[in-house]
Amino acid sequence: MWRRSMSTGYTCFGYKSIGLKGVWVSHAVHTCNAPVLPAGRITALQAMDFWKKHFERTGVAEPDQSSQYIIAHLLGAKTIESLEHGKLAEFLSHEKTEQMWKLCTKRLSRMPVQYVIGEWDFRDLTLKMRPPVFIPRPETEELVELVLTDLEMKPETGVSVDTHPTCLEVGCGSGAISLSLLKSLPQLKAIALDQSQDAVTLTAENMLRMELGDRLQIYHLDVLTDTEAVVGLCSPVSVLVSNPPYLFSEDMASLEAEVFRFEDHSALDGGKDGLKVIKQILTLAPRILSNHGRVYLEVDPQHPLLIQRWVKENVEELRYIETRRDITGRPRFCILQKEKSNQDRELAFGLRN
Ligand SMILES: C[S@@+](CC[C@H](N)C(=O)[O-])C[C@H]1O[C@@H](n2cnc3c(N)ncnc32)[C@H](O)[C@@H]1O
Repeated sequence: MWRRSMSTGYTCFGYKSIGLKGVWVSHAVHTCNAPVLPAGRITALQAMDFWKKHFERTGVAEPDQSSQYIIAHLLGAKTIESLEHGKLAEFLSHEKTEQMWKLCTKRLSRMPVQYVIGEWDFRDLTLKMRPPVFIPRPETEELVELVLTDLEMKPETGVSVDTHPTCLEVGCGSGAISLSLLKSLPQLKAIALDQSQDAVTLTAENMLRMELGDRLQIYHLDVLTDTEAVVGLCSPVSVLVSNPPYLFSEDMASLEAEVFRFEDHSALDGGKDGLKVIKQILTLAPRILSNHGRVYLEVDPQHPLLIQRWVKENVEELRYIETRRDITGRPRFCILQKEKSNQDRELAFGLRN
């Protein structure tokens, strides 16, 4: 059984999903002392219940799920539902009780549960998680599904199932998108890059864990400043995918404590209009993509219209194909396609001298 956010859609352990202005709350944290270890023996169920109530009293988000995932992890399972029958009624050893207190105290400091237990599920993968590398959100699983469906349905996108598609991911974080695509498409080869050394290291660790090292290259590059290296090392590819930083800078101060204190701000802050990295990706896309290659972006719901307009005015060789909605109906994904410029077409048809 996989670990999932209990709330449908847009909340996931300890943070509200990014993307909607105004859903975040203050990142101020009340300092709370960790409760002392119990003097006598307690069962797993008692420990779980104790911490659930303590999280509730101290205002920790998703108290129930937090204590459940931590105890399940300590007992060697992903969820309490997948524990052996009767396991929760057993007494914890002294070491396990100490570990429970240690991990729950981390959660008390508002560390996201994914970092507390050091791993989380993304589609059918279990990935290592470590601060400050961005924790993949559930909607990014939808982005991966969208790319996979598109590749299977539309060989005319420049990618055909019987050829060898290639993919570049800008901003790989833990490697969730690239590794998930590689796992689902055995013929795919991918390149992943990130400006954060922590992200590059974690993606490499996850790649080795999944045994996908023969099909993924990882680079420590900044798409804003290492432009020529990005184009030189990462092209041509038939798919360019990214879940870039896209929050509006003004919203950074109102992020939940879990996000604000533990996750890399450069994974989130997309500048004044949230489009800083997105515009750079779109500017470089025609140089990186093969003809008819596609860009797939996860963005803020306010972005698709802005991107459509901006591309029309600024990137001649990219055509905005469509906006896709997430499961809650918000416009969250943009698809664009490289098409030869008028000048290239005229040259191809011999209309120019
Ligand atoms: C929102 S996170 C997404 C991470 C991962 N793809 C996922 O969906 O879980 C954005 C990622 O982009 C990276 N990033 C931000 N600015 C970048 C830049 N200028 N060049 C390359 N990577 C960048 C961040 O370090 C971060 O890992």
